Formats: sequence, C-alpha cells, structure tokens
Amino acid sequence: VHVLVIGGGQNAEHEVSLASAAAVAAALRMGDHTVTCVTIDREGIWRADGIRAGASAAESLALAMPLIAQADVVFPAVHGAPGEDGALAALCALAGVRVVGSGVRAGALGMDKWATKVVADAVGIRTARGRVISAEDIGDVEFGGAVVVKPVSAGSSHGVAFVREEAELLPALRAAARLDRRILVEEVVRGREIDVAVLCETGGIRWAAPPLEIHAEGLFDTATKYDGTARFTVPAQLTSDESAGLKRAALAMFDALGCGGLARMDFFLTDEGPVFNEVNTMPGLTAASQAPRMFAAAGVAYPDLVARLVKGARV
Ligand code: DAL
Ligand code: MG
Repeated sequence: VHVLVIGGGQNAEHEVSLASAAAVAAALRMGDHTVTCVTIDREGIWRADGIRAGASAAESLALAMPLIAQADVVFPAVHGAPGEDGALAALCALAGVRVVGSGVRAGALGMDKWATKVVADAVGIRTARGRVISAEDIGDVEFGGAVVVKPVSAGSSHGVAFVREEAELLPALRAAARLDRRILVEEVVRGREIDVAVLCETGGIRWAAPPLEIHAEGLFDTATKYDGTARFTVPAQLTSDESAGLKRAALAMFDALGCGGLARMDFFLTDEGPVFNEVNTMPGLTAASQAPRMFAAAGVAYPDLVARLVKGARV
C-alpha cells in the first residue's frame, strides 16, 4: 500500500504537524507500506524532499496533485486550518483517493468551535455557555465576569486567553481576532481535564479508548502542551459511571459530527458530569501524544494504530 503522508501546514501548529507526520511515516515504514512524505511549508508551498514544488502555493499544488492521485491512501497529518478543516480531505475527495480520518464535512465542523457547540447542544451534551463575536464588534463586548476567549478556529490553544479582570478583556479579544474573524467568549468551566479518543475501523465499528486525564501546572495552554511539564494519567482514574458517561458523549459527538478514522474529544469533568470542550479530527499523532497513548492503554500499539487508520481510510 502506497501512503502519501502530508505534514506541516500554514498555521501556528506547523511544528506539531511535522512531528506527527514524521512519527506516522516512521511507523508505516516499519510495516507493509511504501511511504512518500510531503510537507506544506508556512507559505503554503508543498515540498518534497525539502525542495519547493513551485514558486507559489497554487503552482506547488498543481505539482502536488499527481502525488495525491498516485497514492493508494493519503494520510493528512496536518493540525489546524487549512488542512484539518477538511481542506486536504477535499483534495482527496475530488481526486477519488482514500484519505485517513474525517471527510470534508466533519473536518470543517470540527474546526469550528462554535459549530461543534451547536451540534453538542442539539444532541444533549453539555458545553460551556458562550457566544460568538465578530472581530469587528470586539469593542462592544462588556466585561461581566471571568471568561475564556478563543478564536473559533485554531488549535493547540493558540490565541486562547483566560480573562479574569476587565483590563484583560480587550487585549484577549484582539489577540484572538488575529487568528480568526470569529471569536468565542465562554464561561469558565471548572473540572478535571479528560480526553477521550474514538477510532472508527473498517466496517464502521467505532470504539472509545480508556480516557486520559491531563495534569497541567495551571492552564493546559500552548506552553504546557509542548514544554513537557503536563502529565497524563492513562487510564484516568474514574468511576465506571464517569468513564461510561464520557465515552458515551465522545461517541455521540463522533457520530453527530460524522467523524471518520480517529478523533479526540476533550472534556471537563465537573461535579454535574462531562462538559464537552472541543474535538480534534486530526489530533496530535506522535507516539507520546494523547490519542496514541489512550489506544496503547487499550492494547493497540502505535504502529498498529497507524496501520489501522490506513486500512480504514475511505474515499
Ligand atoms: N491540536 C493538537 C495537535 C492536538 O489536538 O493534539
Ligand atoms: Mg485542537
């Protein structure tokens, strides 16, 4: 099976995507796969063997499309938009090539933190109360207590701020507005941070791995996500009711969004039960990232997980 692994991308998660793609490619090479790697650089120019394929994003895409068309399966290990939002799945859909993970629709929905909240509400899964604000209107937002400010579409907590006092509000909104024209302002939820990963295998069988708990010093923000200070407990210490409730909510979100392959749903576990925070339709995929750790705890070692994702890839 010839797999095209795509890494990098034009956003703040570029480096994380390179790490995920490198790990995926190495794992696939250990198995029965022929692997070609391409990288999308920060300017959107595709590179093969480090060499720019063209002078502009459009020109390089014309050169990259044959690589997609020649592959049996495309593995888009790109976090954030454009990429995780369905853009790469769209190229594969147009070319009729099997792609790992979610399709266009779930990728686009999942990259939109506002849309996913609306979906969660519709299927009866709690989320933090919040509202969406256009970048043009941030001057009108009044401070009414502590809130979390986030760009509607971003990853790895880039642009996310915890606002405790009025003076922090406008700078936080401005920072989020640099990453997206839509900004989410949410109430603060206090609870344990628990992730649940769901895998959809050949034949449409979906299952959730044992949940993982994140222990960060203070906030699990962009810094603590990658500086090695956050600690994970897998499986998280949960009652069987808590674990079942989290898995049920994660599977319901997976289905409601129409996800494919692998997705990681992030929750806060509060005294009143799980509060859904966000979905990652292409979650961090190094062997040390949360989703692979959860599947390892379920007996699916990293190379096996990656091979299963390739096997389950759909047109
Ligand atoms: N957005 C990062 C890569 C994650 O979900 O792991
Ligand atoms: Mg994310």
